[in-house]
Amino acid sequence: MSHQPLRSIAVVLPLLLLAACGEEVRDSTTRGVTPQADAIDGLFRFSVTLGAVIWLLVMGLLAVPIWRSWRRRGGDAEVAPTDRGPVRLDAPASEVDGAIAVADPTHVAQAEADHRVRNRLIWVGGIILPALVLVTLLVYSSVVGRAAAHVPEDGELVVDVIGHMFWWEVIYEDEAVITANEIVVPVDRPVRFNLTTEDVIHSFWIPRIHGKVDMIPGRTNTFTFTATETGDFRGNCAEFCGIAHAQMVAFVRVVEQDEFDAWVAAQQQPATTGASTDGEQVFIEAGCAACHAVAGTDAVARVGPDLTHLASRRTLAAGIVPNERERLEQLIIEPQAVKPGIPMPAAQLSADELEALLDYLEGLE
Ligand code: CUA
Repeated sequence: MSHQPLRSIAVVLPLLLLAACGEEVRDSTTRGVTPQADAIDGLFRFSVTLGAVIWLLVMGLLAVPIWRSWRRRGGDAEVAPTDRGPVRLDAPASEVDGAIAVADPTHVAQAEADHRVRNRLIWVGGIILPALVLVTLLVYSSVVGRAAAHVPEDGELVVDVIGHMFWWEVIYEDEAVITANEIVVPVDRPVRFNLTTEDVIHSFWIPRIHGKVDMIPGRTNTFTFTATETGDFRGNCAEFCGIAHAQMVAFVRVVEQDEFDAWVAAQQQPATTGASTDGEQVFIEAGCAACHAVAGTDAVARVGPDLTHLASRRTLAAGIVPNERERLEQLIIEPQAVKPGIPMPAAQLSADELEALLDYLEGLE
């Protein structure tokens, strides 16, 4: 017999446990960094615990009759004659053990008592208990739903997040900042997300920040949260929206207020175009500008992500690859290899044009 499966478990299990102990937890439904995520986690834990208690109770109740019948059969085996043979239908009552037993008044009383117990079990276990459990869960989830919904607060930062196939547009209206896929917010300050979509239904979900909220065409869904910890928190689209649905990653980066102010000030600047004017020309002429905007240039399209400060982002293609020159190059000349399903055509460029374009994009700090 092969020990391969056992060996695999022996290797994988400790690795999983080690991974679970890792310091950096970027997405976890059970380690919230906002009161809203904690409330949702509380409901989850309560439901799981309640479910476990009910399961144990049902298993216990199931074990009782099994045990009883097992005991009865054991008892019968000791006293019952083994050569009784089949009972004839025309046999006199005195010959039939069962008929004599039914006539016995103690057996009748016992049967009635069993019937009453069974009735009570159906009422309590089948009607009253499930009703109580469902009402409790309904009330608790309503309380959590209220706690996690949008509650207007003074001084909240408003961020519009718009779902696209397959990336996230991020607009800070009051700050006049447009970015994509990486949302920077300050710690200990209420933040309101207005969520909608440009095309199909998406669902915005950063597990450590908040529960899933759908992005529905023609509608704006809203929630508020206050992050109590700084860090990078990862999320994903949670509603199937097409071929690259699983590769529609978003990050919420929670930073100190000073750092946030500095980030906003940097994002408000027009693009640093001094890096490569040749590259800017390639960008405009090769067709990039048909979909992307770069503030301060002739590129103003909003079909794809705004690239004004592309170099300040950590990832490319909605969080799936690190923002490095080789990845950027691959994304430009072979986008389907980086992210199958991405609605971005491969650019036809000479080697010189490609180098100039990469220099330009890498200069967009
Ligand atoms: Cu967007 Cu799934």
